[in-house]
Amino acid sequence: MQLTSLAALALAAPASALIRFSCSQLVVDRIDPLVNPGMAPSPHLHQIIGGNSLNVTMDPAKDMPGESTCTTCQFTEDTSNYWTAVLFFRARNGTYKRVPIRPNVGFDGAEGGMTVYYMQNGLSDYQQRSKVTAFKPGFRMLVGDAMARTAEKANKYKQVTYTCLQDMTTRFPETKNLPNKPCPAGIMANIRFPTCWDGKNLDTVDHMSHMAYPASGTFDSQGPCPESHPVPVPQLMYETIWDTRQFNDPNEWPEDGSQPFVWSMGDHTGYGSHGDYLFGWKGDALQRTMDTPCYVTCPTLTTQSIANQNKCKIDRTVKEDIDSWLPEIPGSPQISKKF
Ligand SMILES: *[C@@H]1O[C@H](CO)[C@@H](O)[C@H](O)[C@H]1NC(C)=O
Ligand SMILES: *[C@@H]1O[C@H](CO)[C@@H](O)[C@H](O)[C@H]1NC(C)=O
Repeated sequence: MQLTSLAALALAAPASALIRFSCSQLVVDRIDPLVNPGMAPSPHLHQIIGGNSLNVTMDPAKDMPGESTCTTCQFTEDTSNYWTAVLFFRARNGTYKRVPIRPNVGFDGAEGGMTVYYMQNGLSDYQQRSKVTAFKPGFRMLVGDAMARTAEKANKYKQVTYTCLQDMTTRFPETKNLPNKPCPAGIMANIRFPTCWDGKNLDTVDHMSHMAYPASGTFDSQGPCPESHPVPVPQLMYETIWDTRQFNDPNEWPEDGSQPFVWSMGDHTGYGSHGDYLFGWKGDALQRTMDTPCYVTCPTLTTQSIANQNKCKIDRTVKEDIDSWLPEIPGSPQISKKF
């Protein structure tokens, strides 16, 4: 659905909340405090948004996001950290160039980063009638498998997809693999997390087992949570728009007709897309928001300007070249294709 029609629908009163907001880039760094705490460099590069207390190690017992003094997110109550892998373009001469990120519709001026959603029901359901329980301090999760290189492995994770943007409002179709043709306005990577929590664990060893998908149907069809994971939580979704426009010349694409983009973990299929989340909302701000009838723009929260969001930045921990035409992707991951 297009945002213009979403805005029109929003005139009818929702029962509870769906929020959509932008967060600028905090840092692009080879760290991963969820999967590889304490490790710098971690195996692959990430692009990270949110509170500036981000660090190589984030002790869940310490509410580190609460120590942030600024956040790259639009709502100052949100000092969570959110991250994904980084996309590279591979030139015919075998060198790699990091693909920049462009702002989403409505967020002009945002430097890098993502659009984040918390929803009670599907995106196009403006009434948002379901009740959800907000995540708790110390909560973390991961969706997707950085090592997946087949559709079969990727299908374990529902709704981790790509949209080939014909223009900035394109939303369909979504694919599980990286688009195989140039996308005129960029490639949007969509990451949706599971929505059923076990109600007990803030995290688990694989950062996933405390979460589950609905027992039947989908989140969008309001499928019930399974008995093992009975607590509905907000649907968290990330959209990252990889600005591939400068790489769309077919004469610079691989001569064998394949597509030239490779994720920072060496994945050229797209099936390895993944997203990480470290909850860090202040006090009960997220629960309060989810319980307040509002759609997209929620006045219960404090909104900072995009210029202020852009100002919140931290230095990279791992000092390495990530911006030249590089002979190898940082960390030299094995590339899933022989070019
Ligand atoms: C990360 O932690 C180290 C060690 O505690 C500290 O020196 C450093 O300032 C922290 N970095 C940030 C960005 O907070
Ligand atoms: C490799 O190709 C890219 C893209 O065409 C170009 O910008 C870069 O200078 C080339 N590097 C070398 C070492 O030829």
